[in-house]
Formats: sequence, structure tokens, C-alpha cells
Amino acid sequence: MKKEKIAIIGAGNIGIAIAEGLHASGEFKASNIILCRRNLSKLELLKKRGFKVSSNILQASVHANYVVLAVQPKQLKKVLKEISSGLNKKKVLISVVTGVSISEIQAEVGSTCPLFVAMPNTAISVQESMTCIATSNSSKAIQSKVLSMFKSMGEAIIIEERLMAAATVLGACGIAFALRFIRATSQGGVQIGFDADVAQLITSQTVNGAASLLLKSGKHPEREIDRVTTPRGCTIEGLNEMEHAGFSSAVIKGLTSSHRKINTIA
Ligand SMILES: NC(=O)c1ccc[n+]([C@@H]2O[C@H](COP(=O)([O-])OP(=O)(O)OC[C@H]3O[C@@H](n4cnc5c(N)ncnc54)[C@H](OP(=O)(O)O)[C@@H]3O)[C@@H](O)[C@H]2O)c1
Repeated sequence: MKKEKIAIIGAGNIGIAIAEGLHASGEFKASNIILCRRNLSKLELLKKRGFKVSSNILQASVHANYVVLAVQPKQLKKVLKEISSGLNKKKVLISVVTGVSISEIQAEVGSTCPLFVAMPNTAISVQESMTCIATSNSSKAIQSKVLSMFKSMGEAIIIEERLMAAATVLGACGIAFALRFIRATSQGGVQIGFDADVAQLITSQTVNGAASLLLKSGKHPEREIDRVTTPRGCTIEGLNEMEHAGFSSAVIKGLTSSHRKINTIA
């Protein structure tokens, strides 16, 4: 994709994270990434690093092979109206806007260009995103291009569109859930003797290691837990105490609550 251009309409949190990820992965040169927002003063630093910036979203869409929509849901309709004349079957449109379906987007821009809805998370800026992608009208060849673009920034899978809300909760909100776990364990680490920064380092790398064990072996978490829990030992003592306080139940309740809420947004 070295020669192709990508326009990111909505260079805010996730838009910039995607741009950083694409650039760091080597998929796109900074000069082939057009970052769009109305207030360009906030993109000065990225402009200095070689990214293109623009507030003309129609022009950016015309110049790009890929157009990524990364605005807030309530801003999307206006954006789609503005860029629709610049879209054609040679462009690939990718929306990361939460809660907006393929058919809602097609109602504004028609179904001429291949369209994807994607749910990455903010770890995309460090090539560690989990991105779930759905599409309805694109060829296998284009699907594999889009999948490989997101795989260059972490893990990516194609899912059915009906699971997009669940993917948002598990993958995108999941970053916050995991970080809260890290914060809680770091606080515990301080109580048992470490400085805050050392506690955070130990906790973050331990969570990273735990995830890598599963990703590399494909094993069930409980198999790995069995390897750490000596009978009558300190790990099972702590683990059971957490469960008595409702650990797994609290996490599942939080997830299902987010899932209920997401259907009321947008
Ligand atoms: N944050 C996440 O982890 C995450 C993950 C996956 C998906 N998402 C979804 O991604 C979307 C964006 O989220 P965010 O957190 O990145 O929001 P955000 O920080 O508010 O970014 C939205 C950007 O869109 C720009 N914008 C708004 N209207 C525009 C227009 N007409 N033309 C050009 N630019 C325009 C805004 O800048 P100006 O006001 O300067 O125009 C702003 O920079 C949301 O739908 C969110 O649900 C977020």
C-alpha cells in the first residue's frame, strides 16, 4: 500500500491512533496519510512530522484510495453528505464510528463503493489493536486488503455485522476494563511494598505475559492458572478471595451492562 493514499475524516483520538499505527507499521508513508478535522491548529505537530492535514473532507476523499470515517456518531450524517460525491467503486470506505450500521451509511452514500465497519481500539497506535471488521458488499480481494491493513496494526478478524456492538464492548471498551485491572493491581502492589512506577511496570508486563501465554498456546486460561496455583499456596488463596468478593461476576456484569447501554447510544 506504499503508493496508496488514505484520508482519515475525524483526526481525533481514534483517528490519530489509526494514523500513527499505519505509519509505524510501514503500510503508509506519513505523506500519504491525510488527516482531516475542522480545527487544524490541533494537528500542527503531526503536520510537522510529515502527515498531510486538511479541513476539506471532499477534496481529501477524492485524493484518497481509502477513506476512514472516525467522527462522533452525531457528526457522521453531515460528513457523509459532504463526501458522497467524491466516492466511487474504486474507493474503499471504512467506518469506525460506533453504533452506525452499514445500511445507515449506504442510505447516505449509496452502495457503489466497498464499505466496511470496523471496531479497533486505541492500542492501534502501538500496533496492538484488536480490530473486528464487518462488510456486506466487498469482494474477497478487497476484504483481504482491508484485513491485512488492520493486521499490520495488531490482530484483526472479519465478523458478522450483528456482532459489532458486542465487539465494541469486548475490544474497544475492553481496553478500559483491562487498564482498570492494571490500576487495581498496581495499587495493591504499592500496599505490599513497591513504588507506584515499579508496581505498574511489574503489573503491566505480567498482564502482557498472561495474554501472550494464551495467544501463543491457544490454551484455556484455567489451564495456565492451574500451573501457577500450588495446593494450599498463596496464589489460590488470593484468587479465591477475589472470587468471594465477586471478581468474575463483576467483570461479566460490567460487560453485559456496557452491551445494554451501547444499544441506546447513537
Ligand atoms: N476512542 C476509541 O477507543 C474508539 C475506538 C473505536 C471507535 N471509536 C469511535 O470513533 C469515533 C471517534 O471517536 P474519538 O474518540 O476519536 O472522537 P473525537 O476525539 O471527538 O474525534 C472526532 C474528530 O472528528 C472531527 N470532526 C468532527 N466533525 C468533522 C467534520 N465535519 N469534518 C472533519 N472533521 C470533523 C473532530 O475535530 P474538529 O472538531 O476539529 O472538526 C474530532 O477531531 C466515535 O464514533 C467513537 O465511538 C472510538
